[in-house]
Amino acid sequence: MAFLATKQSLLLTLLAIGFLVVAASAGNFYESFDITWGNGRANIYENGQLLVCTLDKTSGSGFVSKKEYLYGKIDMKIKLVKGNSAGTVAAYYLSSKGETWDEIDFEFLGNVSGQPYTIHTNVFTGGKGNREMQFHLWFDPTADFHTYTVHWNPLNIIFLVDGMPIRVFKNNEKSGIGYPTGQPMKIYSSLWEADDWATQGGRVKIDWNNAPFSASYRNFNDQSSCSRTSNLTWVSCDANENLWKWTTLNDHQKGQLKWIQDEFMIYNYCTDYKRFPTPQTYPKECNL
Ligand SMILES: *[C@@H]1O[C@H](CO)[C@@H](O)[C@H](O)[C@H]1NC(C)=O
Ligand SMILES: *[C@@H]1O[C@H](CO)[C@@H](O)[C@H](O)[C@H]1NC(C)=O
Repeated sequence: MAFLATKQSLLLTLLAIGFLVVAASAGNFYESFDITWGNGRANIYENGQLLVCTLDKTSGSGFVSKKEYLYGKIDMKIKLVKGNSAGTVAAYYLSSKGETWDEIDFEFLGNVSGQPYTIHTNVFTGGKGNREMQFHLWFDPTADFHTYTVHWNPLNIIFLVDGMPIRVFKNNEKSGIGYPTGQPMKIYSSLWEADDWATQGGRVKIDWNNAPFSASYRNFNDQSSCSRTSNLTWVSCDANENLWKWTTLNDHQKGQLKWIQDEFMIYNYCTDYKRFPTPQTYPKECNL
């Protein structure tokens, strides 16, 4: 009996250790990302749990995932540049490579203190974007970490903030509209200066007295039907993929989407008739 008990508790202990190891590696920036830009301006802290990008007068900084994803639900907690962040942009996006690349974008455009950040979103297919939608937020994204999610599956791309959908781009390939289906993407993020256009159309310039600016990242979580590492071997296929792979918005989420788009959307390419004045130039997906 004693032997059995010991063996059992040993097993439990081993299971517990195994679980801890898995849990610890889930959001580890050392394991999941490479810092690719910024010459020491981006750094990983807290044993891999926190990543901070900074921007000073010399340069910004950025990082890229080690893995490529073909479909996935990718969560990241981000805390944006505090105070007067005018002229700064934090980009957070998925992108494939080559001239006919696909891309799914979040961009966070800073503002002067007290004025709202703008979340900019876009979808590129075959190297062509021009599908911008922009939003203000219902909270201060510089006060704390909030979760920004790209949920990309064969049916739709859902952009979520704290689990609430702000935008859906549907797969309308049957109607001849591009949709990212075949090109694996990496996750990129960077903090940089874009004061020629970012804040209030470029009228408000960056104030270097506030530098260095910093954006922080935590709790990275990827679920992917399949992802691959740099040797192009597909690995870590997700046994739970059916939990998200065929997901579209439920009725509750449709209500949230409507509320957010009614209250917080500040730009929608589908209603920019000056930019797309003729039926020939008007984006086809906006008619569906
Ligand atoms: C900054 O604040 C102004 C005024 O509230 C607002 O119109 C604008 O959308 C905000 N965001 C950016 C990036 O300019
Ligand atoms: C590629 O990388 C994966 C994960 O790191 C590894 O399991 C696999 O053996 C590698 N394949 C080759 C051909 O090196």
